[in-house]
Amino acid sequence: METILEIKNLNIALSNGVKIIKDVSFAIKSGEVVTIIGENGSGKSTILKAIMREDEGQKTIAGAISYCGGKNILQMNENELQHFRSTVAYVSQRDDYNFVGKRMTVFDIMMDSARLYSAQTLTKDDIRQLFDKYQLRIYDENSGKPLFYEKSSPAKLSGGQQRLLSIISSVAVRQNAKLFIIDEPLNNLDFKNAKRVSNLITKIHRENPEAAILLVTHCRIFPAITRLISIEKGAIVPNEEAYRCFNCFGKADNDGYYEV
Ligand SMILES: Nc1ncnc2c1ncn2[C@@H]1O[C@H](COP(=O)(O)OP(=O)(O)OP(=O)(O)O)[C@@H](O)[C@H]1O
Ligand SMILES: [Mg+2]
Repeated sequence: METILEIKNLNIALSNGVKIIKDVSFAIKSGEVVTIIGENGSGKSTILKAIMREDEGQKTIAGAISYCGGKNILQMNENELQHFRSTVAYVSQRDDYNFVGKRMTVFDIMMDSARLYSAQTLTKDDIRQLFDKYQLRIYDENSGKPLFYEKSSPAKLSGGQQRLLSIISSVAVRQNAKLFIIDEPLNNLDFKNAKRVSNLITKIHRENPEAAILLVTHCRIFPAITRLISIEKGAIVPNEEAYRCFNCFGKADNDGYYEV
């Protein structure tokens, strides 16, 4: 199986010299669904951000990260980086829509993601189909109207609706990507939507079996996960445990889907 992502000796220090990531190395192969677990503040998001070259600020970052055996991402120039980012389905831990342009709509967010990913132009029908396919709907609670058209402003969506928007625009729009990186998929979601997002990850794993999926999550509700990586104080620690779904939301069916 092809190695999709390889991290070698990743070390990250803050400007005050404090090391927040210590010699982290791991690889993810095609078809794997890997989750990084660890306490709050242990460094999980910092690793994902290093892969995406986000939030570099005053950090000192050393090591090598390669995507499909290509150039070290840490040494990519701006053009190479933009291209790499456009190929990956990445969802960061925070949904921050306060800074998107005032005229930007939910529809535009979806369109931009598709355009950058595959130069594809989505129609309203395509978008409706994506929401339908994964049962991820964003409705106005009062009017019952769908909120994914021109007039909906992402900044005005609720916390859970914003999470769904991030997931549908980055993951569902890019469902045939080779690499998915999702930081805390279930933030802000109610139980039904949490099950739907688990179903989406299962569906992508089944329909795009060559993809590598890297998650950070504290929840154990994902039947699709194949391997755990445990992190403590910025370092990988041995982990004998196999991933086990805790069945918090009831049992998934034999194919890994929850009934919603
Ligand atoms: N840009 C930064 N400046 C200062 N400190 C930082 C920065 N980025 C990360 N840190 C620190 O590094 C540590 C790891 O943060 P990180 O966000 O990776 O944790 P996490 O494992 O994702 O935690 P959580 O489960 O709460 O999301 C924290 O102590 C955090 O304060
Ligand atoms: Mg985090």
